[in-house]
Amino acid sequence: YVRGVSGQPPAVPVDFCTLEQRAKEAMSPEAFGYVAGGAGMERTMASNRQGFDRWAIVPRMLRDVSVRDASVEIFGTRYNSPHMLAPIGVLEMAHAEADLAVARAARRENVPMIFSNQASVPMEDCARELGETPRFFQLYWSVSNDLVKSLVQRAEEAGCEAIVVTLDTTLLGWRTRDLDLAYLPFLRGKGIAQYTSDPVFRRLLKEDELDQEVGPERKVNLSTIRVLMELAGNYPDGFFKSLTSGEALAAVRKFTGIYSRPSLTWEDLSFLRECTELPIVLKGICHVEDAKLAREHGIDGIVVSNHGGRQVDGALSSIEALPAIAEAVGDDLTIFFDSGIRTGADVFKAVALGADAVLVGRPYVYGLAAGGEEGVVEVLRNFKADFDLTMGLAGCRTIEEVRQATLVER
Ligand code: FNR
Repeated sequence: YVRGVSGQPPAVPVDFCTLEQRAKEAMSPEAFGYVAGGAGMERTMASNRQGFDRWAIVPRMLRDVSVRDASVEIFGTRYNSPHMLAPIGVLEMAHAEADLAVARAARRENVPMIFSNQASVPMEDCARELGETPRFFQLYWSVSNDLVKSLVQRAEEAGCEAIVVTLDTTLLGWRTRDLDLAYLPFLRGKGIAQYTSDPVFRRLLKEDELDQEVGPERKVNLSTIRVLMELAGNYPDGFFKSLTSGEALAAVRKFTGIYSRPSLTWEDLSFLRECTELPIVLKGICHVEDAKLAREHGIDGIVVSNHGGRQVDGALSSIEALPAIAEAVGDDLTIFFDSGIRTGADVFKAVALGADAVLVGRPYVYGLAAGGEEGVVEVLRNFKADFDLTMGLAGCRTIEEVRQATLVER
């Protein structure tokens, strides 16, 4: 099933590092920096990988692994492997077909997709491409509860099976590659399609008075200053030199003022519970106490994640955080895992340490950049095949057996 061994060259490289290199060649330096980069000195990003190396699989023999079943049940739906597509914003930077290409690949491979709140394509368009393929919606909690409600309602109508609230990005991390390239995609109007397609956002946009007070040129200048002021808490002045103009800028400015609520607390979650009966998943949990609080607040699942090392440089690796969290809440909450998943062995280790399913992040973005829809299909096929082989070779026939598998800590 891996094309590379059947005489046909694979659509994109199988090896992650080669794939990353191919994606780098296909993308602008700014786009590649945005995707590949992490916060600060990228120490958390590095430890997301090193964390996996601290665990070793101990294969078992003579267990009749001729028939294997990697399927898992999540919120009442059965999936044929424990993989999902992580919510990734601004995919237009990787490929012109962006989320649409990913949705088509997800459908072909029957892998659930999590729509990003920062997507390049409105969720309704992706939903159409997905057909019956399961999907979740990832929410960034806006300062406007009306907007939150509207996004959640749209997600329900688009057939989403859960709402994933990302908690670790109420402020954008200190991403040095973007700062050095003076690049932030949102300031150029990228990755805000869920907003500009939203009726509540459009209403809020119209209510904005400032643009009517000034002529077109001053408008751009004033808006530029306002955008920078709104970001002043996160970035020093003067980093972002060239900005978009006109209406796009009005939308960008509104977006930067509204997309996230840093004042969010556990108490606010009851609002979301009132908005929807869908399962609620909290993404970005690293601390055992937060996992327990999630349970206390009636949350259905968590994503143990540090956002691929893009937020807190020096934070613990995601795989380091997983065992204690799984031990504390694994019986009560569905546990998703991401940050650093690159191979089938990584998936195996995450499941053995307590994850119900894993989210694949950068690998599929690189597949998209290097090969469009086919590239994403290839990456997903490789993950499934690699995981299936790792299962069998380690002596496991089912996910239940992977959960019981022996890992030793080096
Ligand atoms: C992300 N991630 C992310 N998460 C989220 O909840 N909403 C989003 O819009 C985005 N956008 C985004 C863009 C890019 C370019 C990257 C690399 C990541 C985080 C993502 O869902 C996931 O947590 C990480 O990608 C997992 O880490 P790895 O596997 O990429 O290392």
